[in-house]
Amino acid sequence: MRQSSLVVVANRLPIDDSVAPDGACEWRRSPGGLVSALHPLLRHTTATWVGWAGGTGAAPTLGDLDGVRMHSVPLTAEDLRDHYEGFANATLWPLYHDAVEQPEYHRRWWEAYQRVNQRFAEAAAEVAEPGALVWVQDYHLQLVPGLLRALRPDLRIGFFLHVPFPPPELFMQLPRRAELLRGMLGADLIGFQRAQAAHNFAQLVTKVLGLPATDRRITVDDRVVRVGAFPVSIDTAEMAALAARPDVAERARRLRQDLGDPEHVILSVDRMDYTKGIEQRLKAYSELLASGDVKVRDTVLVQMAVPSRERVGQYQILRDRVEREVGRINGEFGRVGEPAIHYLTQTFDRAELAALYRVADVMAVTPLRDGMNLVAKEYVAARVDDSGALLLSEFAGAAAELSQAYLVNPHDLEGLKQELLAALRAEPADVRARMRAMREHLHRNDIHAWARSYLSALDESGSLLTRVAGS
Ligand code: F6P
Repeated sequence: MRQSSLVVVANRLPIDDSVAPDGACEWRRSPGGLVSALHPLLRHTTATWVGWAGGTGAAPTLGDLDGVRMHSVPLTAEDLRDHYEGFANATLWPLYHDAVEQPEYHRRWWEAYQRVNQRFAEAAAEVAEPGALVWVQDYHLQLVPGLLRALRPDLRIGFFLHVPFPPPELFMQLPRRAELLRGMLGADLIGFQRAQAAHNFAQLVTKVLGLPATDRRITVDDRVVRVGAFPVSIDTAEMAALAARPDVAERARRLRQDLGDPEHVILSVDRMDYTKGIEQRLKAYSELLASGDVKVRDTVLVQMAVPSRERVGQYQILRDRVEREVGRINGEFGRVGEPAIHYLTQTFDRAELAALYRVADVMAVTPLRDGMNLVAKEYVAARVDDSGALLLSEFAGAAAELSQAYLVNPHDLEGLKQELLAALRAEPADVRARMRAMREHLHRNDIHAWARSYLSALDESGSLLTRVAGS
């Protein structure tokens, strides 16, 4: 087994399988948030990515992807049901997102979570060279740092949580709360999106485990575990370059024409998830149509809602409700050839997405709770002429950085309607000043800056990173 000095461990490998024109199965880089976040860093090093390739059964043997070694971890149908769909996405996901849907607790799911985390820890232990840096990602794998430390105490282990970390009063619901905290404490550095999350974690380790902790340092056994906020970002320059491409600009012009050359285009791009506030947004829009503040003739809403986690009951229920509501709104307010909402559930390639960002005069990103929300950042990066208004939920991690956005509380229907109207009617000079400030922020705080700041904090002495860069 080839070993690497830098190992990333994440639930998914950064690939999708697709069928080539000749019928052969081929693997391609996938467009997910975490994948986009880490890929630019890894392609410059000899690294291994440990993760699940999708599907059930034997793990496929995969070649390198842009110089990154792919090490796949198998999941059985039972693991998929009880670990991924169960404990990760029907227990932790809703709990960590303010319990906007009821988290479910099942002992069988917890057993699967432990079993799958153990498998990932063993895979990481196998591919890490002595003293390597291992960076474990996200809520699917919170036990991996502790399990990996037990197997390989020589490693430098980092853990980063991409989703929110809840306040103690919510986390305390978890039947196996102490084990989860201990699992994370196997890391040398625990990164969160926001300072508040690091604070919540420090409070919890004292409350549940009785360990001395500040927001930044926790003492466990004879080690100090550091905790901090490292807001994740995007490849700002890459998105800006894509959006500036002449074919993308041309596509944006055509899209606007196809939409009937309206005065205003509002765009929302979400995974179909109850945390994204899709229903609240539709309700606000429908009320604005009913009151006549917004008219179908001069304003269109493009709502992309890409289906996700489709076998989880709460996601199926949400999709049914959203589609019923879109149908109702279009039936009530649309006209022949002029729907009130252009509703799309397909995934688009990056160039088409960039063209959509360019078309959108207002981008509505209004989740009820979100770790970061990279769509908000991508929109800003794509507005290369500094035009465009971002309507952003206060409860998205991105709001802590993009304070020049039109900020809203998505639970406040009146506030949501007023702020959407404010964004639609804003003075171009005001819009431009806000957008320019946000774009400058994102050019300084891009994905490379994020990875550098996390990894240099993890590798205090700097010796491992020097080795990684040279490998
Ligand atoms: O935000 C958390 C996250 O796991 C991302 O990493 C990922 O892109 C998204 O949710 C969708 O996740 P999945 O399809 O793996 O459940």
